[in-house]
Amino acid sequence: MQKQYALKGNIIYTKSFGKFETVKDGYIIVEDTRVKGVYQKLPEIFNNIQLIDHGNSLIIPGFVDLHLHAPQFANLGLGLDKELMQWLETYTFPEESKYSNIDYARKVYSTFIRELWKVGTTRACVFATLHKNATKLLIDLFDQSGLSAYVGKVNMDVNSPEYLIETLEDSILDTREILEEYSSKYELVKPIITPRFVPSCSIDLLKGLGSLAKEFNVPVQSHLCENYGEINFVRKLHPDYKDYASIYDNSGLFGEVPTVMAHCVLVDEEEIELMARKKVFVAHSPNSNCNLSSGIAPIRRLITRGIPVGLATDVSAGHSLSMNSVLVNASQVSNIKWLESGRVDKPLSTAELFYLATKGGGQFFGKVGSFEENYEFDALVIDDSSLSIFKTLTIEERLQKFIYTGDDRNIKERYVAGKKIEEPKCC
Ligand code: GUN
Ligand code: FE
Repeated sequence: MQKQYALKGNIIYTKSFGKFETVKDGYIIVEDTRVKGVYQKLPEIFNNIQLIDHGNSLIIPGFVDLHLHAPQFANLGLGLDKELMQWLETYTFPEESKYSNIDYARKVYSTFIRELWKVGTTRACVFATLHKNATKLLIDLFDQSGLSAYVGKVNMDVNSPEYLIETLEDSILDTREILEEYSSKYELVKPIITPRFVPSCSIDLLKGLGSLAKEFNVPVQSHLCENYGEINFVRKLHPDYKDYASIYDNSGLFGEVPTVMAHCVLVDEEEIELMARKKVFVAHSPNSNCNLSSGIAPIRRLITRGIPVGLATDVSAGHSLSMNSVLVNASQVSNIKWLESGRVDKPLSTAELFYLATKGGGQFFGKVGSFEENYEFDALVIDDSSLSIFKTLTIEERLQKFIYTGDDRNIKERYVAGKKIEEPKCC
């Protein structure tokens, strides 16, 4: 007999882009790890299962953060008056070099995971550093926490400081070791191929990683067309390639396996075409793009072209781990994009953005981010009674108020794949 239970509350989720589904005082039936159904009235066959009544609280899908850097958590809020390449050299690379020290890694990584839990991120696509042992530790800590993640050992063999670089051979060997050890070790935490970005990888390394992705059938994550300084550098390094995206594509790193590219602020028409054809995901990180003067990604256009999109914090280029913050900023920059585009790229609505923060990014993990039947049950229970509510609000309005004015203090419970997740131990 499979384990079943029911949660009662005000249920809200997005089955399709831009359209909320709501059930006031409704029931979600969970069977093992997955949603069995959402009901207004509890069907009789479930009369005898455990019922957890959350009263007037909201029940929403857990947040999916499609791109962030765990080691940079220690740098949160620092150096954000610089552009990407200068910020990497001044702040990011020196910090990441510290993860050769496993004790330091344990301290930061365990605090990082606890913070993710706090802010209601139930799934994440995470960059570690180039260090093999600290990356393994991060995978193990995620598994112990109960949160779900893809975790990548970063690869970088050229154009990097001498204190944060690896040889081509070590890069491939260390990556292979992690794939062999961790591909099937955990149910909810998996390795992912993670070339940092084109400037820090030789073509031989990119091609080697493309082969590993195919051999182990694991997904890929990287950065694409984030910032003008970066793109100019890529052009100078690789004048023979048509564009940035085709460098990944020629190495088997662009949609041969599920692939997510962070930013895509400055992608051109041909790159958009390729991304649409290869179903490459975009991790939209507006906080980061504002902080590092990268620009505003053309998200409405990418979505219209059929490219899958999720939202991301990109910590520490983003200054907050909270997906609430990303949702708000994504809305604000989409309003500005609308004005800048001569009122062509319509602003993104709350329902559209909420879809991106849940089911949009969740699709990278499979059936994740919705309460439709057979979706993995990832959820947050939101108690919004402390927010400034003085009149009767709809469930949609209550969610909007939580997104804009709420925070981790409003999150009462978190579930991942059917299991309630308690606060992870720290340090
Ligand atoms: N491009 C290459 N590395 C990084 C990084 O750490 N952060 C961001 N935002 N962009 C990058
Ligand atoms: Fe990033």
